[in-house]
Amino acid sequence: MPELDPLATKLDLATRPRRNRKAEWSRRLVREHELSVNDLIWPIFLVEGAGKTEKIASMPGVERFSVDVAVREAEAAAKLGIPALALFPNTDPALRDANGSEALNEKNLVCRATRAIKREVPEIGIITDVALDPYTSHGHDGILRGDEIVNDATVGMLVAQALNQARAGADIIAPSDMMDGRVGAIRAALDAEGFENVQIMAYAAKYASAFYGPFREAVGSNVTLAGDKRTYQMDPANSDEALREVALDLEEGADMLIVKPGLPYLDILARVKENTGAPTFVYQVSGEYSMIMAAAQNGWLDGERAMMESLIAFKRAGADGVLTYFAPRVAKRLREGF
Ligand code: PBG
Repeated sequence: MPELDPLATKLDLATRPRRNRKAEWSRRLVREHELSVNDLIWPIFLVEGAGKTEKIASMPGVERFSVDVAVREAEAAAKLGIPALALFPNTDPALRDANGSEALNEKNLVCRATRAIKREVPEIGIITDVALDPYTSHGHDGILRGDEIVNDATVGMLVAQALNQARAGADIIAPSDMMDGRVGAIRAALDAEGFENVQIMAYAAKYASAFYGPFREAVGSNVTLAGDKRTYQMDPANSDEALREVALDLEEGADMLIVKPGLPYLDILARVKENTGAPTFVYQVSGEYSMIMAAAQNGWLDGERAMMESLIAFKRAGADGVLTYFAPRVAKRLREGF
């Protein structure tokens, strides 16, 4: 028996997939997907006051901005080439009530920020969120009667909220409430008031997720939320249902779709994009952001690489763009050319 030297093994292989990975120039050459600054939407949080930034304990590196600070941040984001911002208010608890009526106040935080940013930085797109949770005393996205979030009366409020935002200058209305029929109702109301060019980016497949936890601290609905959102947000066990939801929103007039959360739902993102061919966005939600940040802060993973890897994963799965709290950091990194 000849001595076997495993280190002398030679294989006769016609195909060696590793050849194309041998150097960075070659990896770049065969790369299938690319992340660009054009893919980024930056969600920001708003708070009352002037010259104010407020840390959010569960979202290291994310702050709430007063309107004047938000304008400066919008300017910086536009300079970086970020196409659009998504605005979320932390409403004064004194202004929250059972029906979320502050959502209809033409001088609410979101409307003031929208007007100020559109005046000073008109080149950046403004996306406003349609849902009542930052405004309700119970933290739900709709109107609570007994223990039910009632659909149709909520849609009435959402339509009024959307109009209020469009009048303030919002470019894209983004209903995140998951009520039935709201996209069609909002589209009709916008058109009737001459806002036919205001786009609708529908949170079409939005799941009842634990990953929204830090966001609720950011907008202050963590203290108010009674129960959970499982009677209106989707069951994480469902996939075909997401296709029915997105088909309905498209029929009702949605211009763009959102799948949310992101990484745990890449399969949904891929199916939605493949089935609809519509502009499809994914929301890398607060909990996903915070997990990466927390692990990085503990030295458990390389935060920078985890951030970039999560974003290219969205592109690979078919996303046309990503709502991410990492947006400015990614934009700076892309600008540096790596
Ligand atoms: C509320 C809304 C939520 C998010 C965006 N809009 C939270 C929720 O549905 O409870 C979550 C975003 C995030 O976690 O980053 N309509």
